[in-house]
Amino acid sequence: MAKICLCLTGKTLEANLETLEKYRKYVDLAELRADFLDPDERLLIRRFPALVDIPVILTVRRASDGGRFQGGEGARITLLCKALAFAEVDRRKNFAYVDLEEDLNVPSLEEAARTFGSRVIRSFHNLQGVDADLAGRLRGLLHVGDEIPKAAVSPRNLADVLSIYRAVRGLEKQEKIVLGMGAYGLNTRILAERLGSFLSYTSARDEGLAAPGQLDPRELAETYRFRKIDAGTELYGIAGFPLTATSSPPFFNKVYSEENINAVYVPFPSDTMESFMELAGELKLRGASVTVPYKEKVLPYLHAESEVVRAVGACNTLVATPEGWQGYNTDCRGFSDSLLDFAGGKDLKGRKITILGAGGAARAVAFEVHRLRGKALILNRTASRAKRLAEPYRFAWAGIDSGGAELISRYRDIIVQTTSLGMEPGTEGDPLPDYHFSGRELVMDLIYKPERTRFLKRAADAGCAVRNGYDMLIRQAVYQYAFFMKTEFPARLLPQMRI
Ligand code: ATR
Repeated sequence: MAKICLCLTGKTLEANLETLEKYRKYVDLAELRADFLDPDERLLIRRFPALVDIPVILTVRRASDGGRFQGGEGARITLLCKALAFAEVDRRKNFAYVDLEEDLNVPSLEEAARTFGSRVIRSFHNLQGVDADLAGRLRGLLHVGDEIPKAAVSPRNLADVLSIYRAVRGLEKQEKIVLGMGAYGLNTRILAERLGSFLSYTSARDEGLAAPGQLDPRELAETYRFRKIDAGTELYGIAGFPLTATSSPPFFNKVYSEENINAVYVPFPSDTMESFMELAGELKLRGASVTVPYKEKVLPYLHAESEVVRAVGACNTLVATPEGWQGYNTDCRGFSDSLLDFAGGKDLKGRKITILGAGGAARAVAFEVHRLRGKALILNRTASRAKRLAEPYRFAWAGIDSGGAELISRYRDIIVQTTSLGMEPGTEGDPLPDYHFSGRELVMDLIYKPERTRFLKRAADAGCAVRNGYDMLIRQAVYQYAFFMKTEFPARLLPQMRI
């Protein structure tokens, strides 16, 4: 079972002890990053392992490997020697591990480590990319044979991530530490067990994470249920880009946890759809959510699709079947359930609705408004796109600036905002700055970050009832869960899912 290691990057040993105390229940071992310590404190590191009740790794990382140690190699070796060679006879009071880079060739240091019971982690860091022969490099790190080889590499895209998973095939029996740094590598930290990695490094979020892409121990243990992940854990995930603000991982992982399901849901920032599909195959994902900008680009990868996917031309849910991927669209029902809950009634008959935007999200909205027998006007910056979306449903359409605003007066029982204008970080955006709300419109914005866009705030200030996209997000995820797990979402959990 892979372990959770807390990297301690305080300036003093005292500060590190406090941090460890705070996270103790989530971690199995600690890494003392002596390169972060004040120079005076570095003289005292030998005492540190005796002060804590878990095994400690000693690391003095130099700047060229991403660390903070500014002195020369001589000073670094002296520091390591003082901690390892003058250690206690009682091995339990010594560092359990010491991280020595592959090019640090000081036999006496290793000898001292072995004598006093500190196991050598033989590491290399690639801050530029992922080595073509990662497996070969890992094997090459073993000199004596009792070391733990460690590779910390920097995937620049999802194909690089795939190459990490592929490299460890055949190295199942080899004790090792493997991780991908940065946003693309986050999944390798969550799925350390899948990589056969001895541990996963974490650091305290409040103190600024020690390395890019690292997770907080609590997040890894609780949100991602790290300690429950074993060979039988089913994997689910989400593909999108940049995927910085997704709420789906906490949602799904919480349900898996509450329902005691051996599964984990992992974010995969995907620079291309193709590499996500390949990685999904390699990791044998059972299901996946698909978000911006891939809801259309995913279509060619589907073996089969639901009628809604075919009609809307967008898919946000993938379910693995023996034949291939089955595609569904849960945005549609998520949207209309939320709208009907907001507007009342069982359909939209007799209601006049303005849909702002004509992109992927608007397609789902238009499909549902038509299904529920509403009449709509589609307003979009690019009028030709509005036309294309409106015509099959016999909806009205216009460009936003060409008299479109006037037309709204005939379609303003409900206004649904589907563009990305106003979303974080561009919160100044407003798709219809010249429109004055009468105060009687029901206004729904599919954006949920921020909670109230500028557009929604203007509507509320004018007296309109408003709703953001969070309720829709939860509702579509509930449908998605049912497709993934082939069982209804547990109703008892609904009240607590509004996270
Ligand atoms: P999504 O899948 O999120 O709907 P999309 O398919 O790229 O994304 O559609 C984005 C929508 O937001 C479109 O309606 C787009 O208008 P255009 O069709 O004219 O591109 C709209 N949109 C995006 N940025 C905009 C901006 N700065 N001003 C007005 N509309 C904008």
